[in-house]
Amino acid sequence: MISTIKGDITGLDFDMIVNAANAHFARGGGVCGAIFAKAGPELDAFCAKLPKGKAGDVRISPAFGLPSKAILHAVGPIYEGTKENAQALAGCYWNCVAMAYQYKREHDLERLSLAFPCISTGIYGYPHEAACDIAVRTIRKIRSAFPDTKSIDIIFVCYEQIDYELYKKALKEL
Ligand code: APR
Repeated sequence: MISTIKGDITGLDFDMIVNAANAHFARGGGVCGAIFAKAGPELDAFCAKLPKGKAGDVRISPAFGLPSKAILHAVGPIYEGTKENAQALAGCYWNCVAMAYQYKREHDLERLSLAFPCISTGIYGYPHEAACDIAVRTIRKIRSAFPDTKSIDIIFVCYEQIDYELYKKALKEL
């Protein structure tokens, strides 16, 4: 199932939540700040040991104080309007679904819910509409190429009304 809701990604009980991370996987502002605040200082300590990443990379961590099973830290691109930006953003979605699927198999789970924020559309400045199009199009591509990933329920959690309207429209057309 692919759906969208408006709200705070840290306020609901998803199996896995995606953090819009920076390349150092360090505590930041935006959704990253909200996730670190709820997960607590153990997350800071865990992420301090992660190797530096680049746009498109995703690392997994325990959820610590959050009710989820794990957090996927996805490094979105800092928007400059390049093709590489779009590829890196799509890469975040590909890598998150791949890691969620691997986690599901390793833990022998029938289904798994995976919640995405609107990666890169805040501090990193990605235009909302283009980012939404990349996110929905990439999830659709993954599910047609790898039908088994349909056992992962995708929820796009929108904090801002503009994103919520865009995702509702995009999913209607899916
Ligand atoms: N729940 C869901 N979405 C949220 C929340 C929340 N609690 N708080 C913010 N958002 C939304 C923003 O409104 C935006 O739509 O998350 C989306 C991503 O915005 P940012 O959090 O600013 O992330 P991003 O644009 O990817 O920039 C990443 O910001 O916080 C730092 O450490 C982070 O350096 C990294 C950069």
